[in-house]
Amino acid sequence: MKKVSTESYKGVRDFYPEDWRFQKWLFWKMTEVVEKFGYENYTASPLEYTSLFEAKSGREIVEKETYNLVDRGGRDVTLRPEMTPTISRMIAAKNREIPRPIRWYSIPNVFRYEKPQRGRLREHYQLNVDFFGINGVEAEIEMIEIGAEIMKNIGAKNKDFEIRLNDRGIWESIFTFLELDENQSYEISKLVDKKKKLEKDIFEEEIKKQIGEEKSKNILEILEIVELKDFKRYGVDEKVIDNLEKIKFILENKNIKNVIFDITLMRGFDYYTGVVFEFFDTHPDNNRSLFGGGRYDNLLDIFGQEKIPAIGFGMGDVTARDFLEVRNILPKEKIKTDLSVLLLDKKLFLEADKIVSELRENGLKVEFDFSYRKLEKEIKSAEKKGIENILVLGENEIREKRFILKNIFSGDEKKDLSLEDIFNSILK
Ligand code: HAM
Repeated sequence: MKKVSTESYKGVRDFYPEDWRFQKWLFWKMTEVVEKFGYENYTASPLEYTSLFEAKSGREIVEKETYNLVDRGGRDVTLRPEMTPTISRMIAAKNREIPRPIRWYSIPNVFRYEKPQRGRLREHYQLNVDFFGINGVEAEIEMIEIGAEIMKNIGAKNKDFEIRLNDRGIWESIFTFLELDENQSYEISKLVDKKKKLEKDIFEEEIKKQIGEEKSKNILEILEIVELKDFKRYGVDEKVIDNLEKIKFILENKNIKNVIFDITLMRGFDYYTGVVFEFFDTHPDNNRSLFGGGRYDNLLDIFGQEKIPAIGFGMGDVTARDFLEVRNILPKEKIKTDLSVLLLDKKLFLEADKIVSELRENGLKVEFDFSYRKLEKEIKSAEKKGIENILVLGENEIREKRFILKNIFSGDEKKDLSLEDIFNSILK
């Protein structure tokens, strides 16, 4: 018989209990912040009709990055590569019933057929925070503030990250001003997005190839602009510039001072319509984007519905973990089980089981070891699992109802305890 491999599928992870403990910690840190801002939790299936993503996730992702399958009924189905089309679909389906403004969050696993590498896997968990129904910059400010609060909540200092800000509207105006067609605009956006990774000469050459010498000079000039107001020369609306300045100013007043304007920030998805932002790690060994998002006011179009202003971001678990790992600040989450009860004799099972139940009823998390191995072995197992306390049950203990509680990490032993003493001692 051919043996089946124990390896998991390429680019996805198994979460052994200690790994999942970290995930739960991270999800909790995210949840704590978003719920403080009044966001409600939703979720959905990872399977969607392919047409949903074809309509909105953008050319690149659907052509190259999704897991597609045909179900037994011949329907085209895709494993979600992101959550934004799903939340838009859910809101469109019950549009009139949901009270405005809508503040929702979710922590789904999403799937992308990528080349697995540091910070990029084929399945990751992604906190999605989305806000529907507000046009004004207050929404941008809230989003960025939530991102900064989550960073703080996982242990980041202000200097550990930088928040890059841009507005897609700037480029749209520039493309109109330079009279670029749709394809040229698309290609220039992609090149600008990659600018920091490309050699200067290659970048300039590529731009020239797309739009010719004259216009490429303009693009290079634009990329040198430092003062936001100078974009006005290229047809950029004053309102877009004012908004960006306002966002930065108000965030500074809220003590979020690490916001910088970055004209090269594009973000991958085509659906963003306005402000885009990205949180960046400043550590030299992990100098990369941590998470990001932006405004997407047109996503309900595909369902034939009126526009609802929307803004949101996605924060992945993989990049968050790298952020903590590179600084050596990964939390050491302990096992939740309080106590391991070791039973010496099979004959005593029923009486011992009653004691264990009572301990659980009183709020302790109790593992009952009825493997009847050598006591040292059972203690070793509890220790390896990280369970701090043990209680050995033999004939005397059961008869007298007096117990010895041992902390196997500190070696402390408390003798002659009642069950109540045990709760008090552990739960204190
Ligand atoms: P995204 O930039 O594609 O945006 O992904 C958001 C975040 O998910 C990334 O910044 C990163 O933390 C994480 N991420 C993405 N791909 C991978 C991967 N292959 N492996 C590990 N982590 C990854 C979106 O998905 C938008 N839908 C976010 C959004 C929500 N925009 C508005 N609302």
